[in-house]
Amino acid sequence: MVKKLLQVLRGEAVSQPPVWLMRQAGRYLPEYRALRANAPDFVQFCLNPELAVEVTLQPVRRFQLDAAILFADILLVPHALGQKLWFAEGEGPRLDPIRDASGIAALRYDAAKLAPVMQTSKGVRAALDDNAALIGFAGAPWTVATYMIEGQGGTDHENVRKLAWREPATFARLMDVLVDATSQYLIAQADAGAEALQLFESWASTVPAGLFDAAVLSPTARIVANVKAKHPKLPIIGFPRGAGGWLTRYAQATGVDGIGIDQMTDIAAVNVPARVALQGNLDPILLLQGGEAMRTEARRLVAAMRGRPFIFNLGHGVMQPTPPDHVAELVAAIRSAS
Ligand code: CP3
Repeated sequence: MVKKLLQVLRGEAVSQPPVWLMRQAGRYLPEYRALRANAPDFVQFCLNPELAVEVTLQPVRRFQLDAAILFADILLVPHALGQKLWFAEGEGPRLDPIRDASGIAALRYDAAKLAPVMQTSKGVRAALDDNAALIGFAGAPWTVATYMIEGQGGTDHENVRKLAWREPATFARLMDVLVDATSQYLIAQADAGAEALQLFESWASTVPAGLFDAAVLSPTARIVANVKAKHPKLPIIGFPRGAGGWLTRYAQATGVDGIGIDQMTDIAAVNVPARVALQGNLDPILLLQGGEAMRTEARRLVAAMRGRPFIFNLGHGVMQPTPPDHVAELVAAIRSAS
């Protein structure tokens, strides 16, 4: 049996869309919090295959989702490049910021540091049934660079934008390093059983138009080409969040098989080739709130996407205070709508 997610990523429309959710594993689930309580260091938690396999499977079992997404983090790539990374309790990620060419020149990708992620990938793949596909992932270079240069989230990315405009060759060097490391990392995930991959460009919204090609289109296209050279049939989803005006060019320039659509974008108006699957774009606030408004919007989305290759998802990740029951209600609404 062909897994529905993979069918859609080959460009087929199916009568009932496959569903998974960004950040489907995490603190909104009590069973996640129970395991995390005994693992205070988040990086070590991600690099513990036994725990990571279990946490990956938790939402798939609970909600019968059509895909598992490998439990890891986009910031494991800077970690493997030798940059100091830690998660301050209640504050999100912190890195020793890199601000100049010498900091970039010192980066060396050590694949061995991420070997546990490949163990997780193998373990999850072996545990999944015939319906659920395993999605591997990485951050796209611009998004990862924002954390590497700023040293944290929640900024306007002033330092990375300054660097990109002031020293284009240094910025290009950083993109090269990230393209190379990310390609190796994703190929290893596919070797270890990932059946599809997603590139999270969560901060496409802060890229100035004049840098979009150098920061997003070209690095993403190179990663897609590198991965496809080794795994020609492996589908890749790109998620350029906040880049509504660029979606047509993103699809053309990068060669992705699917595009994640944020909740700000009118998904029915997205203009990409018919073979490119669309994924999204329910407002995560509707899932947090639940109830009739959520169900109505979910049914509207399914109806609007009928006849197109479509993967049901949110426009961004599950929000931490979301009641798990709302996910069950959402999945039921999608499956009865179609
Ligand atoms: O279920 C899944 O989606 C798989 C696992 C996953 C995590 N992070 C686990 C995680 C995935 C796919 C990610 C991607 C990720 N990580 C992104 C891109 C998606 C997005 O949200 O835009 C980004 C920007 C990161 C970086 C990151 N990691 C931040 C900003 C944070 C802190 C924010 C927060 O929610 O606290 C993390 C930590 C993180 N990554 C958690 C989880 C479950 C929470 C950590 C904890 O348990 O304390």
